[in-house]
Amino acid sequence: MEFTIKSGSPEKQRSACVVVGVFDNRKLSLSAELIDRASNGYISEIIRRGDMEGKLGATLLLHNVRGTLADRVLLVGLGKERDFRDKEFRQGIRNAVKLLNETGSYEAVIYLTEEKVKRREVAWRVEHAVVVAMDAVYRFEQMKSEPAEVRRPLRKLTLSVPQRSDLTAGEAAAARGLAIANGMDFAKDLGNLPGNVCTPRYLAERAQELARQFPDVKVTVLERPQIEALGMGSFLSVTNGSDEPPRFIVLEYEQSQRKQKPLVLVGKGITFDTGGISIKPAADMDQMKFDMCGAASVLGTFRTIAELKPKLNLIGLIPACENMPSGRATKPGDIVKTMSGQTVEVLNTDAEGRLILADALTYAERYEPEAVVDIATLTGAMVVALGHVASGLFSNSDTLARALLAAGDDAYDRGWQPPLWEDYQEGLASNFADFANIAGRAGGSITAACFLSRFAKKYDWAHLDIAGTAWKEGKEKGATGRPVPLLATWILAHESAA
Ligand code: BES
Ligand code: MN
Ligand code: ZN
Repeated sequence: MEFTIKSGSPEKQRSACVVVGVFDNRKLSLSAELIDRASNGYISEIIRRGDMEGKLGATLLLHNVRGTLADRVLLVGLGKERDFRDKEFRQGIRNAVKLLNETGSYEAVIYLTEEKVKRREVAWRVEHAVVVAMDAVYRFEQMKSEPAEVRRPLRKLTLSVPQRSDLTAGEAAAARGLAIANGMDFAKDLGNLPGNVCTPRYLAERAQELARQFPDVKVTVLERPQIEALGMGSFLSVTNGSDEPPRFIVLEYEQSQRKQKPLVLVGKGITFDTGGISIKPAADMDQMKFDMCGAASVLGTFRTIAELKPKLNLIGLIPACENMPSGRATKPGDIVKTMSGQTVEVLNTDAEGRLILADALTYAERYEPEAVVDIATLTGAMVVALGHVASGLFSNSDTLARALLAAGDDAYDRGWQPPLWEDYQEGLASNFADFANIAGRAGGSITAACFLSRFAKKYDWAHLDIAGTAWKEGKEKGATGRPVPLLATWILAHESAA
């Protein structure tokens, strides 16, 4: 979809559709008011008849409204004006775009971006309008023999800003929103692809394709012999049972003129998680194709950054493999040696994410990073704790945690921080190795983070457990593209002057 920014009166737009808001209860927004005046009170007449109360989620499409130059006027309910915040703004945009995409308009001018949202500037409204619009029209059809075609898809959206002086900021915000949305789409596609297509080799190929498309991104793919030479015994123990070869993908974006320490992203790339010998129950196991969504978010974020070209240094690390049972698979009780030298007793082969991340976190040391953030669909317990709203955010640095929480709040891709106190470390004790890969059931997401923390001692580190946020279940089953918005927002705040 194409986006442009404009400033001007709604009644004067020559467009397939002009979109204006109505607040609950029957209160016209300023732009709806202008259309009402131009049409001699046609809008207020409709509202008086009770066809649009302004409830959030309501839409009403009008044709040939006199006094206006557009073919259609779409009224969008925005809820109570004093409750109009991030969520309501985004919902209003989503409802409008869904309706436009499913009806005849191939282009439209949206005035909802002129409405005041508490604590947010015009740039925020534009950026989020673009991200939400792209999300609303996203479809994953590449595996269908006959993709369901949208008859007249929405191709072009013009976002209105209150003043001409807002145009420059609006355009920059739209570009930012589009780059974030493109990164999310990339992450969604990778997540939605089945395990028989999206293998470790496939992930590596897509990374290399990204590097061809964006020459600022350099990609190196390590194969088994190189992974062995590095001593990544923990990573390799997970891939033992699989016939698909593992890959360790390294992405580098180095655009800061100054010698700035890089930010490092580490993404869990389990392209299918059966649990291994500690095999998972059959119900819903298909969802374990999403177990590479951490990796997908790293690739998606790289796409966003490559498109926006900020001056900063960014590294991406992706250990990618399958977790399968077989005669060669790692068994409960097996002891593996990590790249850090620490030994781990694998008490449950289904706690595999932390085993592959451990070696990637050690590999990250060579970059002397400013900060390392790993992203992983790590624990079912995280879904129990936070549901599908917030990602778990754990850190050994309060400063880093605060920055990531703030970025998540800005991006409407929020994290929430449970404690990572020493007291939780005790559960990982082992009688046979340095420590085990699981503790008891209680506090499972925290003890998983505790395990990772033992490999992240040399730098500021944070861990995002996205088990509940990376994909949706049920009728809308599919990858969400999260936490690309959080990561991109956090990274873009690091742009240096040179
Ligand atoms: N990939 C799963 C975590 C997961 C499960 C994410 C369900 C989303 C939905 C991870 O590898 C795993 O299996 N974790 C185990 C850890 C346990 C064995 C300590 C879990 O959460 O059950
Ligand atoms: Mn598992
Ligand atoms: Zn897993």
